[in-house]
Amino acid sequence: MRICILGATGLVGGELLTLIDRAWPDAELALYASRDQTLEHAGRTHQVYAASSLEQADTRGGELAFVALDDQYSARYCPRLVELGYRVIDKSNTYRMNPEVPLIVAGVNHRRATADTKLVANPNCTTIPLSLALEPLRAHYGLGEVTVSSYQAISGAGLAPLTSFVDATIAGFSQMQRAGELSGALLDASAYPGNVVPHNGSTDDSGFSSEERKLVNESRKILELPKLGLSAQCCRVPVPVGHYENVWVELERPADAAGITELLGAAPFVRYFPGPEGTHLTALATVQHRDDALVGRVRRDGRDTNGRRWCLTVAADNLRLGAATNAVRIASAWFDAADPSLRV
Ligand SMILES: NC(=O)c1ccc[n+]([C@@H]2O[C@H](COP(=O)([O-])OP(=O)(O)OC[C@H]3O[C@@H](n4cnc5c(N)ncnc54)[C@H](OP(=O)(O)O)[C@@H]3O)[C@@H](O)[C@H]2O)c1
Repeated sequence: MRICILGATGLVGGELLTLIDRAWPDAELALYASRDQTLEHAGRTHQVYAASSLEQADTRGGELAFVALDDQYSARYCPRLVELGYRVIDKSNTYRMNPEVPLIVAGVNHRRATADTKLVANPNCTTIPLSLALEPLRAHYGLGEVTVSSYQAISGAGLAPLTSFVDATIAGFSQMQRAGELSGALLDASAYPGNVVPHNGSTDDSGFSSEERKLVNESRKILELPKLGLSAQCCRVPVPVGHYENVWVELERPADAAGITELLGAAPFVRYFPGPEGTHLTALATVQHRDDALVGRVRRDGRDTNGRRWCLTVAADNLRLGAATNAVRIASAWFDAADPSLRV
């Protein structure tokens, strides 16, 4: 099998390389990025080609392509990959709300990837774990309304912002220590280090950012609840990897904590943390359990009067479960994966 990765040198591309080794260890790789270069990964040197070379008439095709590029490059290369015979899984926002393209969370609606499907959209990194937690509740109790507040890692913005964040954090905290000024007054109030910043890219007339709109619209499409009452507010927090979401759910039918615990404890690709305290359920814990959604802190909302209002917490490694792992699991519907944990 020939597998192509576009964006192989990026954060998500690197995770895809690791997972492809686990899922299809004998696959031939065709790697692309912005330009010709070499890439060191897991002790091997790979040749990476300029993605523009895919537009040459004599380019070889293959079976499976993962696209981990920004939106405009996905729009440029995905149609070409399909033309070359690849089944394509796109990580960007480009096709997610296209009614012709299935938007898939493995463990929720992976049956949308059929033998005839050539292009699949992989959802946003906060949508994937949220959908895994909501789907069992939807199926058993029905979903009334959902409210989400997210605390998202810097790596969600890509390799260059993550590197700058680490450098600026080291420099900023060193400066604080040298000056004996620990309040944060010496840090840049508009930057990520030591800060909480609104996720405010592409804020539209509604006042909500594109990240907030993605979480709402994508969840409705995946759960097949186009009118679901869902509202989200998203922030970036100074965490390298691991998106964390506090969730308020109003169910259509009453539940008790034992029932919810039983459902979430058995849900696919969910690692359930029992008890309301959420001990060990942190953003950085996701880096220890990279291929699962971490779900816990289930407790009755203080305003509840009838067993329908609940609070819970969802967290996931945004590069793995929130990106590469979901893409590989979707592809396992077409090409059986050697590693059982990567199969749907
Ligand atoms: N990071 C996350 O948590 C996350 C989660 C879910 C979805 N996503 C989505 O996944 C995609 C990739 O994200 P990422 O975090 O991996 O980004 P990244 O670390 O910034 O990597 C970007 C990749 O795009 C390549 N690239 C840049 N310009 C290009 C061009 N003109 N032609 C071809 N390739 C080009 C880069 O290659 P060079 O090295 O040659 O520049 C690099 O391989 C984005 O759509 C993002 O929204 C990211």
